[in-house]
Amino acid sequence: MGLHSFCQYLFVLECTVRLIGYCVEGSLFLVYEYIENGNLRQHLRDSGRDPMPWSIRVRIALDSARGLEYIHEHTVPVYIHRDIKSENILIDKNYCGKVADFGLTKLTEVGNSSIPTSNIMGTFGYMPPENAYGSVSPKLDVYAFGVVLYELISAKEAVIKDSESGSGMKGLVSLFEKAFEQPDPKEDLKKLIDPRLGDDYSIDSVHKMAQLAQVCTDSDPQRRPSMRSIVVALMALSSTTMDWDIASFHQHPTISSLMSGR
Ligand SMILES: Nc1ncnc2c1ncn2[C@@H]1O[C@H](COP(=O)(O)OP(=O)(O)O)[C@@H](O)[C@H]1O
Ligand SMILES: [Mg+2]
Repeated sequence: MGLHSFCQYLFVLECTVRLIGYCVEGSLFLVYEYIENGNLRQHLRDSGRDPMPWSIRVRIALDSARGLEYIHEHTVPVYIHRDIKSENILIDKNYCGKVADFGLTKLTEVGNSSIPTSNIMGTFGYMPPENAYGSVSPKLDVYAFGVVLYELISAKEAVIKDSESGSGMKGLVSLFEKAFEQPDPKEDLKKLIDPRLGDDYSIDSVHKMAQLAQVCTDSDPQRRPSMRSIVVALMALSSTTMDWDIASFHQHPTISSLMSGR
C-alpha cells in the first residue's frame, strides 16, 4: 500500500485533517485543509483563550476517537498513527476535533496485530511501556489517546514536575492512577480537574471519562479496549453530557423564565 492509497483514505474522513494534495520534488510536501482554531493543546493551556467547556471536551474526545477508529479498523492494511497527543488534534471553526500529523504513521499487515520495529518514536509521556521493546500495534495509539483524555480532564501536561520528590518528572498517567487508588477516588479526581472549568462539569461524566482513560492506559496492551469500543463508550458519554448541559441550561434563572414565558 503506497502513499497514494494512504492519501485516498485521508481524503474521505471528517475526523482527520483532509489532505488536499501532495507533491514530491526532492522532498515530500503534503498540503492539508486549513483548520482555523489551532490545536487542542493550545485550547487547554493558553490562558489567553477561553476555557473549553466540558461538553466540547467530550465531543472532541469522540471526534478524535472516530478518527483513530477509522485508521485502525476501516483501512486495509491497518494504519497506526504513533504520535497521538493534544498538539496533533486540531480544532475547526465548529469546535470539532480532527486528528492531524500523520508524519509517523506506519502500516501494519492485515492479521498481524503487532509489528516489531527498531525505530522507537513518539512523544515522551504518551508512549506505552511496550514501546520500549519496539512493539508497535494499534494499542499504542489507544494508550496515547488515554493520555489525551487525562489532558482533557486536567489540562495538565502529559509529563509534569514531581511535586513530592521536588525534582524529576512523572507522567500524568501515574498521577491519575494514584487518585484511583484512594478510598474515595471521585474526591481525589476533583483535585485533578482543570480549575478553569469552575463548577461547570458533571462529576459523573468526568469520572466516566477518567475510567475510560484508565483502561486505555493499562500497562498490558491486551487489556486496552479497541478504538471501536472507545467510540461506543464516548458516544454514550456524549449523549448523557448533552442531557446534563440542557438540564443546567434550564436551571439558569433567566433561561428558565424565558422558556416558561415568565
Ligand atoms: N491543517 C492545518 N491547519 C491549521 N494548522 C495546522 C494544520 N496542520 C498543522 N497545523 C499547526 O501546526 C502544528 C504542527 O503541525 P503538525 O502537522 O503536527 O507537524 P509537526 O508536529 O510534525 O511539526 C499543529 O499543532 C497545528 O497547530
Ligand atoms: Mg505535530
